[in-house]
Order: sequence, then C-alpha cells, then structure tokens
Amino acid sequence: MSLYDLIREMPKVELHVHLEGSIQPDTLLELAKRNDVILPVNTHDQLEKWYKFRDFAHFLEIYFIISSCICTADDIDLIARKFLQDQAAQHILYSEVTFTPYTHYSLNRQIPFQDQLAALQRAQKWAKEELGIRVGWVLDISRNVRPVEHAMTVAEWAILGKEHGVVALGIGGPEIGNPAELFQTAFDYAYKAGLPCVPHAGETEGAKSIWDAIHLLHACRIGHGVRCLEDPDLVTLLRHRQIPLEVCPSSNVCLGVVTNLGDHPLPRLLKEGLYVTINSDDPAMFNTTLTDEYLRIVRALAFDVDQIQQLVINGVRATLLSDESHEHME
Ligand code: ADE
Ligand code: ZN
Repeated sequence: MSLYDLIREMPKVELHVHLEGSIQPDTLLELAKRNDVILPVNTHDQLEKWYKFRDFAHFLEIYFIISSCICTADDIDLIARKFLQDQAAQHILYSEVTFTPYTHYSLNRQIPFQDQLAALQRAQKWAKEELGIRVGWVLDISRNVRPVEHAMTVAEWAILGKEHGVVALGIGGPEIGNPAELFQTAFDYAYKAGLPCVPHAGETEGAKSIWDAIHLLHACRIGHGVRCLEDPDLVTLLRHRQIPLEVCPSSNVCLGVVTNLGDHPLPRLLKEGLYVTINSDDPAMFNTTLTDEYLRIVRALAFDVDQIQQLVINGVRATLLSDESHEHME
C-alpha cells in the first residue's frame, strides 16, 4: 500500500478543528438562504475566491460572517452532523471540536446556550450510533469578546456542559491586543472545576503568548504554538513538560504565519523533541481536510511512513479522553 493510501485509510483523531470553520460551501449557501443572510458570494467559485485572506483580521471578518449564518439550534445540529460525516469518511474516529457559543448567543438570533448544547449532544449521539465515531466539544472564548466579563459566561457554560460532551475550555481570535491576563479569572474558574484548558497561542503572536497560556491559562495543550521556536527557554519547557502542540500547517500558510508549506517549522519542532500533533483548523476555509494535511506534509516536507505514524499516534495520546479510552484507541 502506498503511503498516500495508508494516510487515507489509517484510523486517526483530530484535536484542533472549528465547527464554524468546517461548514462546506453547499451547507453555507443553504444556511444563508434559509436564514435570509445576505452573503457577499453566491457560488462555489466565488466562495473559493472569498477564502483568500489578506491577513488575520480579514480572516476573522469572514469567519464572523459565516457564524452569522447559524441562526437556530437546528442549524448547529445540521452543521455538526455534516462535519461528523466528513470526519467518519476520513476514518477520524474521535475529534475534539472547537465551537464558539457566545457568538451564537450574542449575534442576531440569540440562541440560548442550553439549546446550543442540546443540538451538539444530539449530533454527538447520532454520530456514535450511526457512524460509530466519537466527538468531544471544546467551548471557545473569542479574545475580542467585550466586555471581557462575558468570558466568564463561556467558562460557566463549559462547566455546565462537562457532563454533556464538553471536554475543554478554549480561547481563539486575535492574540494581538487581547492578552491572556484579561481571561485569567475565567480560566482559573474552569481549571478549578476540573475542566482542561486548550488555548490558541503562538500563532499571530510570539513566545510571550505561549508562556502566558501556560502560566495564566493552565494550558494542557497549545493551539498552534508554532512560534515557540522564537524562544529557546520556552522550547525547553515545552519539551520537558511534553505539552502537545496542535499544529495546523495549511492554516499557517493561509493566514500568513508561514510563507509556504515547504518552509513550515514542523521539521524543526520535531527535531527539538516537541510533542506535535497535526490538525486542519478551519478545513472548509483553508480548502483542506485532516487527511490532506498529512498528504501535504509528505509532499512538501518529504515525511516518511514512520514520521507520519508518529504524528498520528501523538494525536491519539494527546486527546483528553481517559486512559481507559486511550487503550481502546491504540
Ligand atoms: N478561530 C478559528 N480559527 C482560528 C485560528 N486559526 N486562530 C485563532 N482563532 C481562530
Ligand atoms: Zn484554531
């Protein structure tokens, strides 16, 4: 079997993927139509062009418009089921999926959190029964939420969801200008309630953001983290503690964190002995899938079968599942 076929067929997990960034073109256009949201694009071709981002702020603008197409709990149920179908088709047996509930509560239609959670749970149950795959939800704070007290609302929701499929609290959005200390109270609260914390850090900002994610936000994994290489002391800490990095190669190219895949720091991260996992981030917006991420690494960075297998195993070991569940997966 070729390495490409092996990648396509091997059982995998995914740890860093946003539900809102996973809505495929047909579904997005359908949601916009049924909810009377006027998008600046109407066709697949136009969408493809729309998904060329000038910079991170431009990406977030488009992300926000996509989010505004989600107007009911049934929309959440629909996008979750479609997403999980796509994961099953790739043999992704377990996904930890980021979802930003405050947006859907505060934007136009104000979907109550209980309804959002119920929709996520319905999709989760359906995926287990009908597709034989599992999912855990990472509820995510947006760094630009204001007033910043709303971050605590999301932490409270995440704790409420703990017995109902929520596996962690996350934070995304613009790192620059929105430092970790603003969110410390919310993350302390979640951590003390026993909820793991998985912040984005070290993507659009450098090492300081990662230090802060570890020391102020109790990070047990780092979303992205690729810019840790700017600080050798941080690299030493990440290696000693073996804190997993959720690396998203195509996302880094599409958002200008690296210039092209051939120059991605992935080989250096591995050479430093860091705990690297591979993820797709916002697959529909970056025209990728988790499978494509592995295939692209092989093509652009000449990774071999052993390296790919190690990355896949790293993903399995870095999930937030109990040790008992890990044994079933390996
Ligand atoms: N939200 C969705 N994708 C993101 C990314 N790559 N970085 C920060 N926030 C995000
Ligand atoms: Zn992300």
